[in-house]
Amino acid sequence: MDAVGWDLKFRSLCGNLIPQDLIRYCIYSNGLNDPAHQNDHIYQVCVLGADICNHLELGDDDRAMVLAGCLMHDLGCRYDRKTHHLISYGLAYSFMDNYANGHFSPEEQLKIAHSCLQHRASFKGAFYSTISEIVALADRGMPDFDAYATRAVQFRLGEVSDPDVMVEGVLQHMLEKFTPVEGYAWKTYPLMGKRLFAQEWEEFTNLLLDPNKAAERVKALHIQLTPSE
Ligand SMILES: [Fe+2]
Ligand SMILES: [Fe+2]
Repeated sequence: MDAVGWDLKFRSLCGNLIPQDLIRYCIYSNGLNDPAHQNDHIYQVCVLGADICNHLELGDDDRAMVLAGCLMHDLGCRYDRKTHHLISYGLAYSFMDNYANGHFSPEEQLKIAHSCLQHRASFKGAFYSTISEIVALADRGMPDFDAYATRAVQFRLGEVSDPDVMVEGVLQHMLEKFTPVEGYAWKTYPLMGKRLFAQEWEEFTNLLLDPNKAAERVKALHIQLTPSE
């Protein structure tokens, strides 16, 4: 999709909560990110962020901050993936100064910039505000067994071709990450997500902990994702 197409999509999602210039420059800058953090990812995060605001029945001021955080959280990816949250934190102030001057109060700007700083799964501290927690949660996405398994299969495709070895490797990885309570994904998962997506996580866990069903699903994804010769 070109910049004009993205502009229409983001504008219809944000309405008048975000200045047009800010949307435009975020689209331009995010378009220079690595392939996994392009505008399609940013748009998904904005949509889920807006959904979470609806769930929590938040007003327009909070919704605007969440959308601004979602739009700017990955701005730093264009420069360096490893430290992108730090770069996004700085760029957020500069983008708000240049393209949204006077739109957000100083306190709102702090909350928005912190949501960029604190969005990564590696963040271990306490969230600066609810805005940070919502942006971090929106960035993780909804619980989705197929999406997580697909990523794990793709990651192994170059090294593993035997279907049984693939299934075992993917499931072991997913169990280490998502087994209730002790899985490492839970150590930094926003509490709000456990509450808001309780039903989705339950369905996800039921599938993950059913060895036959889970193996079948991963096997099917492996076949789908293996390039035909
Ligand atoms: Fe990120
Ligand atoms: Fe992201």
